[in-house]
Amino acid sequence: MQLLLIGNWKMAPQKPAEAQKLARTALAISKKYKKFLSVVVCPPFIHIPTVTKVSKTLSVGAQTVAAEANVAQTGLVDAGMLRSSGVSYCIVGHSESRARGETNEEVAAKVLRLLEKKITPVICVGEKERDHQGWYLSVVKDQLESFLSLIPRAALKNIVIAYEPVWAIGSGAVREATPLECREMIIYIRKIITDVFGPKSGEIVRVIYGGSVDEKNALGFAVEGQAQGYLVGRVSLDSKRFSALAASIAK
Ligand code: PGA
Repeated sequence: MQLLLIGNWKMAPQKPAEAQKLARTALAISKKYKKFLSVVVCPPFIHIPTVTKVSKTLSVGAQTVAAEANVAQTGLVDAGMLRSSGVSYCIVGHSESRARGETNEEVAAKVLRLLEKKITPVICVGEKERDHQGWYLSVVKDQLESFLSLIPRAALKNIVIAYEPVWAIGSGAVREATPLECREMIIYIRKIITDVFGPKSGEIVRVIYGGSVDEKNALGFAVEGQAQGYLVGRVSLDSKRFSALAASIAK
């Protein structure tokens, strides 16, 4: 199975020319390592046309979507628009979006709308902090159950779950997660899915890891950590390091 390598550009880059350069790097990586990697880039909405112009074969994702269609919503973008602009993935539930107020209920509504438009939702789950009593597990459980309870079993193969411990994300990260912490949570996520949908269902969903992934730690998250791919922030904005990251996995 190819690993999924998703670059989350967040609110960058500033200029279309830079977006074009980053997209070209991603395209080169996807061609060079097509045996091992399936590459997706998630630019800000404004750069989506620039990125799709670079190549039809590069998979493009959005970073959010409106929860409801057919209502007047200043500033928002519907899944139908994304679809017709060449988008095939969309991040939902990112901790930065949740911090701005996105709720579990909204995440669930967005997942449904994306599935309706045949866009793969990349659903981020993850705890803000870890405690010794294991309460953090119930945070992730609630995040998962809110959308799992609404989708049919047949949709499991069309979603991606990204485990992203908030404490390991971005320049403010407390520390990196270990592959063992990643593996434990991925097993737990699969258990929750199985509890909802029955035997073997937990194996259907692709579960990836995100949070300070780089060229040094990536392989460990896949091999020991059992992640089936990555959601990469900062390193995806640095062409050299993003290429090195891909090379480190292909090894
Ligand atoms: P990071 O971001 O790789 O910069 O930690 C990951 C993310 O927020 O998805």
